[in-house]
Amino acid sequence: MSRIIIVANQKGGVGKTTTSINLAASLAVMEKKVLVVDLDPQANASSGLGVYPEDTRLSSYHVLSDPSCSAEAVHSTSMSFLSIIPSSQDLVAAELELVSKPAREYFLRDAIMPLRDDYDFVVVDCPPSLGLLTLNAMCLGEEVLVPLQCEYFALEGIARLLQTYGLVRRRLNPDIRLLGVLLTMYDGRNRLSRQVKNDIRKTFPQHLLETIIPRNIRLSEAPSFGKPVLGYDIHSKGAEAYLQLAREIVSRHAQA
Ligand SMILES: Nc1ncnc2c1ncn2[C@@H]1O[C@H](COP(=O)(O)OP(=O)(O)OP(=O)(O)O)[C@@H](O)[C@H]1O
Ligand SMILES: [Mg+2]
Repeated sequence: MSRIIIVANQKGGVGKTTTSINLAASLAVMEKKVLVVDLDPQANASSGLGVYPEDTRLSSYHVLSDPSCSAEAVHSTSMSFLSIIPSSQDLVAAELELVSKPAREYFLRDAIMPLRDDYDFVVVDCPPSLGLLTLNAMCLGEEVLVPLQCEYFALEGIARLLQTYGLVRRRLNPDIRLLGVLLTMYDGRNRLSRQVKNDIRKTFPQHLLETIIPRNIRLSEAPSFGKPVLGYDIHSKGAEAYLQLAREIVSRHAQA
C-alpha cells in the first residue's frame, strides 16, 4: 500500500516546496512510483517540476471541487516514475467554496484514495497556512513531514502546527502520525545554524530526521529550469542530501 506524506508548516519559505519536489524526484529515481499533489495556489511545486498552468486543463482546484475527476487531473513529468496533480491560482477560490460544504475537510481524501494504489508514495505540498487546504491534506495523509529552516525563529509557530496536528488526530483522522522534523537550509559554518540544530534536537528528540538539508544554491536555481535538482546538478550537495532523505524515509516509519 502506498504511503502518503504531507509536507506542512504554516511558516512561509521554510523549504516545503523544495522538499516536496526533491524528495519526490529522489524516490522516483529509486523506481518508486510517486504522485505529487500541489496544494498551494502559488503552484511552485508544479512549475518546479516543469508543469505550467497553460499546459494543464485540470488542477487541484478541480479535484477539490469534484473529487471524481482526480484521475484526469494527473499530469506526467519529465521523470517516468513521477506524476503530479498541479495547482493553479483558482485554488484560492476552492478554499472559500469548501467553507460552506458539509464534511469539508475530506474532499481531498475522496479524490486521492481511489488513486493511491497506483503509487508507492503520494507527496502533498501544502501552502503556508493552517487553513482548509492544509486540513484537507492532514485528513488525507498518514504521515506529516515538517521542514524547519535553521534560523532564529525556527520554532516560532511550531506549537500551533502541532496543536492543529493533535486536533486532527483526535477529531478528524486518527491514523495521522508525525514522520519527522527536517532541518533545511543548514549552514554548518554558521554558529546560529548549529545552535538552532541543537535546540531542535532537544525539543524533538525522537522526531528529528537524521538527514539535514544544507543551504545549497543549486536547490534554489533548479526550479527556474522546471527541474528537480537531480535533473539539474546531480552531483550537488543538495541532490545528495535529498537522495539521503529519500533513503531515510523509505526505511523509517512515522511515530505517534
Ligand atoms: N536548502 C536550500 N538551499 C538554498 N535555498 C533553498 C533551500 N531550500 C529552499 N531554498 C529556497 O528558499 C526559498 C523558499 O523555499 P520553498 O519555496 O521551498 O519554501 P516553502 O516553505 O515552500 O515556501 P512557501 O511557504 O512560500 O510555500 C526558495 O527560493 C527556495 O529556492
Ligand atoms: Mg511552497
